[in-house]
Amino acid sequence: MKANLKNIALRWTILVIVFLLIEIYAFQAFKTVFKNKWILKIYIVFNALVICNLLYRFLVINNSSLNFSDVFYNYLSIPFAFVITLFGFKLIISSFLLFEDFTRVLISSFNFLFSTTESNNFLIGRRGFISKISILFAALPIPFVLHGIFRGRYNYRVVNYELEFDDLPEEFDGYKLTHISDIHSGSLQKKNKVEYAVDLINKQNSDLVLFTGDFVNNKANELNEWKKIFSTIQSRDGKFSVLGNHDYGDYVSWNFEEDKKKNFSNLLKIQAEMGFKLLLNENIKISSKSQSISLVGVENWGKGGFKKKGDIDKACQGLTENDFKIVMSHDPSHWDKILKKHNTRFHLTLSGHTHGMQFGIEIPGLIKWSPVKWAYKYWAGMYNERSQYLNVNRGFGVLGFPGRVGVWPEISVITLKKV
Ligand SMILES: [Fe+2]
Repeated sequence: MKANLKNIALRWTILVIVFLLIEIYAFQAFKTVFKNKWILKIYIVFNALVICNLLYRFLVINNSSLNFSDVFYNYLSIPFAFVITLFGFKLIISSFLLFEDFTRVLISSFNFLFSTTESNNFLIGRRGFISKISILFAALPIPFVLHGIFRGRYNYRVVNYELEFDDLPEEFDGYKLTHISDIHSGSLQKKNKVEYAVDLINKQNSDLVLFTGDFVNNKANELNEWKKIFSTIQSRDGKFSVLGNHDYGDYVSWNFEEDKKKNFSNLLKIQAEMGFKLLLNENIKISSKSQSISLVGVENWGKGGFKKKGDIDKACQGLTENDFKIVMSHDPSHWDKILKKHNTRFHLTLSGHTHGMQFGIEIPGLIKWSPVKWAYKYWAGMYNERSQYLNVNRGFGVLGFPGRVGVWPEISVITLKKV
């Protein structure tokens, strides 16, 4: 017990020292670059405001009956993002100065041995230069992060695809699907922006609207506020959905198992009320005159520790080799690990889940990069292997970081063509 306490105390001491060092280094850099006392005062007040804002909101939640996980996005996510951004800013500055101090020790030791006054002057001048560079470098990402929080997350993009198939039933030549994913209702904030996005979905005038999971972050009641808006999504032949890993209520604690079950059945009920037909390891035929295509919806199946309730064989029951198949599966690793190697040909699979990490650089035809590519081979956009397509939608909402930088919220519109 004693050893455990000692361990905790030691960890906290190290953490406090590291935080203090970062604060001191950042302040020193400001002091070196800005001689004006007012700028330093503004720097201190700004820091205090950002931190106090977060603490104040924590206190409000603690002194109310609000549940932390229910209100995180409304009360804390942006103040929290500000604190993290500010910390990142100071961390970059400190890294520069720490490295400079390290080289300074090396050079000073050399000078001590072969004493030259010129090199000491050089070191003093260099401190000012490094401080300037570090502040400049650390400030560079800030406009992008702020844009991501206040604009980027609402920068809805319609991404169009035209896919050709030789075995598409003729009646479906020109058939249009709108694919959306990862709404994460608990993170949505501005009603007018969500209404704008729904309007954009409706303007696509699609035959089908297909939603590939994560309607909520944790709880079905996140949808109460948004249910009415999502009910207005229109499509000629219906709206269909599957579940994502967040839809099972697995990431929050429940007092009783019964509460978790109730939450789940409530989510199914709300989806039905919004007009979404949820496909749980099952398929449905979409008919046009005498022809049809099959829509196959599986529950979540994800590599690693993610839920593996998706059962493609069960979902395909009753289908034949000749059926034209569109699969909805939340996690693209399902396609990578199982679907694309399956002995059945799945013409088109629709996924989401990655959100493109809500961060990356994408310039069509030039560069497509996000750190999420290290975790997911198929992380955004359309892929084609073994005559089968996979579309990984970049998502509608956000999770964790309350913004998007470089990877924008997406509405995919896929037109099927017969060749
Ligand atoms: Fe998601």
